Amino acid sequence: MAEGSSPEVWMQIDNVDFSYPGMPIFSDLSLTLDDRHMVLAVVGQSGVGKSTLIALLAGFSSADAGAISICGDKVMGPSAARPVVFQDHNLYPWKNVLENVEFGLKAKGLPNGERNQRAREILKTMRLEGTEGLYPKSLSGGMQQRVGLARALAVDPLCVLMDEPFGSLDQDTKNVVQRYFRQTIARINSRTVLITHDIREAVMLSSFVLVLRGPGDVVPCDLLSDDDCEYSKLDKERNDYWTDKIQSMLSSR
Ligand SMILES: Nc1ncnc2c1ncn2[C@@H]1O[C@H](COP(=O)(O)OP(=O)(O)OP(=O)(O)O)[C@@H](O)[C@H]1O
Ligand SMILES: [Mg+2]
Repeated sequence: MAEGSSPEVWMQIDNVDFSYPGMPIFSDLSLTLDDRHMVLAVVGQSGVGKSTLIALLAGFSSADAGAISICGDKVMGPSAARPVVFQDHNLYPWKNVLENVEFGLKAKGLPNGERNQRAREILKTMRLEGTEGLYPKSLSGGMQQRVGLARALAVDPLCVLMDEPFGSLDQDTKNVVQRYFRQTIARINSRTVLITHDIREAVMLSSFVLVLRGPGDVVPCDLLSDDDCEYSKLDKERNDYWTDKIQSMLSSR
């Protein structure tokens, strides 16, 4: 952002309605986010519609009404510019680990040697060295999850959509992968949507949390706004404050 200019809007959700047959999920959902908030976290109970929101943002599903724009593009369908880390991994079963990670780099036109080196480096950071030749079916859930994350972040995306990307990692691996995630999105300035069940994780990794409580009941929490928080940002007290507040929003519905 140039000094003096206002931050650029990267996500615009305007009056979106979405239902599965007989089951309303979103009703008149609107949200505008600018570059002060590079990471949007989305929390809510199981079945509330978090993965459905990712599907709408990715363009896999279409809203019944309303419109969505991300990084200047109106979402009309899936785009390689918005890779998705899926909750159920969704790796290409016929490709080995290295080929899965190389996939987007190939589509981007990186020469063979370069993409091979790049993919190996990322796999090493994800603690997946030595798995390059394995196929997804022989990996654990946590390993598959890291391959999915590596595949999405390898291409330096403008925007990445992540559905519970750290869900099945042990604490030690989670710390390493989260650190890599933070460094990568900061380096490439990638806007990120992070779905998580873990409210503390949402508060620590993002600056804006969308709390889904039901159709037409979505609470936006701007963690940079100190209006009703006496603590300065990045303090442990601030994280505790927002974690408790969001927790009570979810349990009081
Ligand atoms: N393709 C579909 N057709 C019909 N109903 C669906 C479909 N996909 C999801 N649903 C229903 O929509 C609701 C929201 O599902 P969604 O997967 O978005 O929830 P979620 O918040 O991601 O849950 P979880 O935390 O368990 O992953 C659920 O009740 C689910 O059963
Ligand atoms: Mg889900």
